[in-house]
Amino acid sequence: MAQQLLLGQTLGFAGPALTGDWTDAVRYERHGAVLIEGGRIAAVGSADLLRAAHPDAPVTDYGAALISAGFVDAHMHYPQTGMIASWGKQLIDWLNTYTFPEESRFGDPAYAADVAARTLDLALDHGTTTLTSFCTIHLASVDAFFTAAGARNMAVVAGKTCMDRNAPDTLRDTAQGAYDDSKSLLDKWHGTGRAQYAITPRFSPTSTAEQLAALGALWAEYPDCLMQTHLSEQQPEIAWVRDLFPHARDYLDTYERHGLLGARGLYGHAIHLEPREVDRLTEVGAAVVHCPTSNTFIGSGLFDLMGLAQAGLRIGLATDTGGGSSFSMLRTMAAAYEIGQLRGVALHPAQLLWLATEGSAQSLHMGGQIGHLGVGAMADLVVLDLASTPAIAQRSARANDIWDALFPTIMMGDDRAVRAVWIAGQRR
Ligand code: GUN
Ligand code: ZN
Repeated sequence: MAQQLLLGQTLGFAGPALTGDWTDAVRYERHGAVLIEGGRIAAVGSADLLRAAHPDAPVTDYGAALISAGFVDAHMHYPQTGMIASWGKQLIDWLNTYTFPEESRFGDPAYAADVAARTLDLALDHGTTTLTSFCTIHLASVDAFFTAAGARNMAVVAGKTCMDRNAPDTLRDTAQGAYDDSKSLLDKWHGTGRAQYAITPRFSPTSTAEQLAALGALWAEYPDCLMQTHLSEQQPEIAWVRDLFPHARDYLDTYERHGLLGARGLYGHAIHLEPREVDRLTEVGAAVVHCPTSNTFIGSGLFDLMGLAQAGLRIGLATDTGGGSSFSMLRTMAAAYEIGQLRGVALHPAQLLWLATEGSAQSLHMGGQIGHLGVGAMADLVVLDLASTPAIAQRSARANDIWDALFPTIMMGDDRAVRAVWIAGQRR
């Protein structure tokens, strides 16, 4: 089978790097190589050794650029691409003013196809090789996203966003309709190529108890599916949930009592959690997803990354486009660093890169398959130029180790830092 050899600095992880000692987990080669075969990584190691062992493999030499697993965005909304960076509102007003009118347009298959293609291309330009996206209530929005991802051979997770109350007429389905549509989309797309379906109730304020229960029943029928939603993002939202579900113990309980709490659940934001919620999420092995540029942009609060990681929660990292203000997972790592600083925790670049690759992949139960620079993983790779702008170059020039060279790109880098992207062993 055809082989490819990529040369550059290589940086990956062989174990957890967020909690515990990241130095044990890091695998770094100054003059490294990645051998690709059949769309997967066949070897990672020293350039000299791998060249000698595979003299016939075609070589792409990236010089001093850094080869990493591609970034994995664990929570975003592709239909919000066109209204990213909309001014001046917090969550509920932002949804009503900007988000719902834009999402109403996705019943038009041509518009959905255009935005899906644009979003995936923007993601790839920024070095993101996997997206986990909410769609809209429209079946066409889901078909458009999975079709565009399939054309790019990208591993993606997505689902129809279900809402049967507190949304405009144009964006409401019903409990039964959400179940039926989600089931037919799931049958059509889950496991097709690299697509994974996620059952997707938007959040408790826009679903009746009947709809949550219907989607919980669907998840019980398809337990290998992911389920994605939002949890405890802003205080007014939490107060609203309390009014809408007076019998629930807390926000998480509105999901739990309807069959929507499980190990394959992905709970976006999770900023203002009660101790019981942390305990239950940890007990079931669920994942929470940190969306730092969104949390500062919409004014939601400061996510307790280290506290939740040390409690044993799995944590993914995400842009939350277009509540998030950037398509870049580099900018997203920078925002996670800044929020950490405001909480008195300085995340190391190793921890940030681990979160954007391995951590997000593990939150999706795709650890070892994507987001991993190691043998057997899919060859979804990003190659980073660590001197992509004059400002970054003058800083990284004085670096004396890989972390000091990488951190300026994390803090100041954008799509200009992305020298190349490989998807399943093919150069994009
Ligand atoms: N909560 C419910 N829907 C959304 C959304 O689209 N974006 C964000 N940030 N939070 C939400
Ligand atoms: Zn979201």
